[in-house]
Order: sequence, then C-alpha cells, then structure tokens
Amino acid sequence: MKVLLVDGTIVGRKTGAILEQVKMYIQDFQPDMELVILSLADYEHQFVDGRPLGEYNDSMQEIARRFKDADGYIIATPIFQGSIPGVLKNTFDLLHPHTMRYKPVSIVANGGTYQHHLVIENQLKPILDYFRSLVTPNYVYTHSSHFDADNNITSEDVHDRLRELARVFVQYAEMSKHLSKETLDEH
Ligand SMILES: Cc1cc2nc3c(=O)[nH]c(=O)nc-3n(C[C@H](O)[C@H](O)[C@H](O)COP(=O)(O)O)c2cc1C
Repeated sequence: MKVLLVDGTIVGRKTGAILEQVKMYIQDFQPDMELVILSLADYEHQFVDGRPLGEYNDSMQEIARRFKDADGYIIATPIFQGSIPGVLKNTFDLLHPHTMRYKPVSIVANGGTYQHHLVIENQLKPILDYFRSLVTPNYVYTHSSHFDADNNITSEDVHDRLRELARVFVQYAEMSKHLSKETLDEH
C-alpha cells in the first residue's frame, strides 16, 4: 500500500517537520506501508483553470499522477489567512474528483493561532468530503509554541496525538482495502 504524505505549502518548515514525525509513527505501526513525501515546494505550479490535464506543465501532471497512484494520504497544511494555502487548494482543484475516493486520509496542520484548528473542520474536511475520502476522525493541529527553534516538536501531548493519528490511519487504510472503489452511482 502506497501512502502519499503531502506537504501542502511552498514556504515554512513546520509543516514538513510534522509530516516527517507522522511518517515515523506510521512506520512503527505498519512497517510494510510505502510512505512517500510529496512536497509542493518541489513543483512548478500553474493556476488550475479547467483545461485538460495534458495541457498543464510536467510538474502539474506529475502531481496529478502521484495523487492518482496513491492508496492513501496524509495532508499537512499550515493555516494562511484563516484558510489553507492557495497552492494546496489549487492542487486539489487539479485532481479528478475520483482520485481520493474511498481512500484513507489524515490531516495534520499548524498555525500561529490556537483557534484556527477550526479551519480544518470548516474548510479542509469539506473538501475531502467532496472527494469522498475516508477521513480519520482525529487530526492533529499544532501551534508554533509546540516547536523548538529547530522545528522539533517539543510537546509530548502532540507526540501522543500523532501516534494515535498514525494508529487510526493504519486501521482506516486496512478498512479501505475491502471497500470497492467502483460505485453504483454515476457521480
Ligand atoms: C501569509 C501567512 C498567513 C498566515 N495566516 C495565519 C492565520 O490566519 N492563522 C494562523 O493561525 N496562522 C497564520 N499564519 C502562520 C502560519 O500558519 C505559520 O507560519 C505556519 O504554521 C508554519 O510556521 P513555519 O512558517 O515556521 O513553518 C500565517 C502565515 C503566513 C506566512
């Protein structure tokens, strides 16, 4: 099973730091899982405007292909202006609506404001619901104060929550194997 760990920003280090940590915890629970990081900072982005996928640059096509080939996802995002970064939304806009259907997804996020964990509830989860993903009931929201100057996570509570996230994600991944990706409806 191949899991794509998506670093959903092109600036900052904390999002990638959480992703590395959750990767280690997933590996602890399921060493056989293939865990691959996709960092949006490594790609040349174009605005998605509805044109056919083949008309985008190679970078955009590769992002779409890597999402399609994955069996599950960890989406990592910082909070920007009370929302997710534009580059992450643009990436979601690029994907065919069936891309993440019935596949497991967990969310990790970080922000400078405690209350902005609600961005996950009110903005990111609805997008993943549109994709009909199997979103785990737990997600982890970190605050800048949970990191030291080198962006290591210093909060034991955050580590516990990341371990629990990894545990549940692995179970959702197992569950998704038995869930047909074929649908009876035409949407
Ligand atoms: C353009 C911009 C907008 C931001 N807006 C918010 C915001 O609305 N709420 C919030 O909690 N943090 C906000 N932040 C803080 C980022 O979420 C924070 O920088 C990020 O979590 C990661 O830190 P890092 O840059 O050290 O990786 C913003 C940061 C930037 C650069």
